[in-house]
Order: sequence, then structure tokens, then C-alpha cells
Amino acid sequence: MQNDIERVLVSEEEILNKCKELGATLAAEYDGKFPLAVGVLKGAMPFMSDILRYMDCHVEMDFMDVSSYGNEMRSSGEVKIVKDLNTQVEGRDLLIIEDIIDSGLTLSYLVDLFKYRKAKSIKIVTLLDKPEGRTTDIKADLVGFNVPNEFVVGYGLDYKEMYRNLPYIGVLKPEVYSGE
Ligand code: XMP
Ligand code: MG
Repeated sequence: MQNDIERVLVSEEEILNKCKELGATLAAEYDGKFPLAVGVLKGAMPFMSDILRYMDCHVEMDFMDVSSYGNEMRSSGEVKIVKDLNTQVEGRDLLIIEDIIDSGLTLSYLVDLFKYRKAKSIKIVTLLDKPEGRTTDIKADLVGFNVPNEFVVGYGLDYKEMYRNLPYIGVLKPEVYSGE
């Protein structure tokens, strides 16, 4: 699998250090509260697991699975809820945990949904941000790393459901795509 990677954009060590830093920041922000951490499946799973380990405060976890219509490289903005939360959102402090923000369409849909459900507050933490891809005015409160406008895989992010289990973020060799 690692043979398919052209170059590493964010190393395993950089990710871990960033999770510690973001976890400490969030623990301070939510001190004395009981936030509901919402992981966006499947991509945010490794990041959620690591960041919450370094967030020294009480936190409830739940998951949302949304799929956006479009091809596997880009979302169309039309979002379908595949798995909804099991937890009531009204009056809760929500922390949305995402793997990557590109156009921002997925997150604007989720933020609108949680506002409609009367969340008390909504914060967004994303491991990666692709600011050049943005077509909405969504901004994360906390960003791990900015990445260029390239398709990236690893640490939750997939190409055709593969590479999610890479311990770092990288770019695939062109022949991986052209072999279709
Ligand atoms: P939007 O455009 O809604 O996109 O902000 C967010 C979702 O699009 C997927 N995405 C990627 N997935 N490598 C991936 O594996 C990428 O470079 C990439 N860019 C966007 C991803 O599912 C994300 O949640
Ligand atoms: Mg995603």
C-alpha cells in the first residue's frame, strides 16, 4: 500500500503532535462543560480518536455519516444522511470533528442542521483545510494543517475506500489513478 504514495504531506509525528496541541486547546475551551463531539464518518475516525485522547475534559461522543452526491474525488453539495446522531442536540455544545474541508458544502449542511436542532454552540475542528477549494463561507474554529488543492489520502481519507489506514497524509502516484 505505501508503495502507492508519491510523497508524504503530513507525517505521523506531525499529526500526533498536532492532536496533542488541539486537544489541550479544546480541553481549556470546554472546561466545566460537557460537549458533544460529533465525528463525521468515516474519514474523521482516526483524528477523532487521537484528538479526544488528548482532550482532558468530559466529552460525549457520537457519529454522523453523510454522503454527498458526486464522484469519489469531489462532493456535489447535495448531502444525504446515512447515519444520524443518537443524541439530542438541543442545548448542547457541539464539537464537529472533520477530516478535511474542501468546498465546505458538507459542513455548511451540518452546521445548518445543528442550528435547526437548536444546538447551544457549534465549533468545528478539522485536521486538514483546503482553502483554495472553498465555495461556501464555512470556516473551522481550529485547523490542523492547510493542504494544497490536491487529492490527499491517509489517516482516514480514502481513494475508493483504500488508504484510510495509512498513519500519515500523502499524495498518490498518478499511475494509481491512471490504472483505471
Ligand atoms: P466538502 O467539499 O464538502 O468536502 O468540504 C468534504 C469532503 O470531501 C471529501 N474530500 C476528500 N477526500 N481526499 C479525500 O479522500 C481529499 O483530498 C478530499 N477532499 C475532499 C471528504 O470526504 C470530505 O469530508
Ligand atoms: Mg469526510
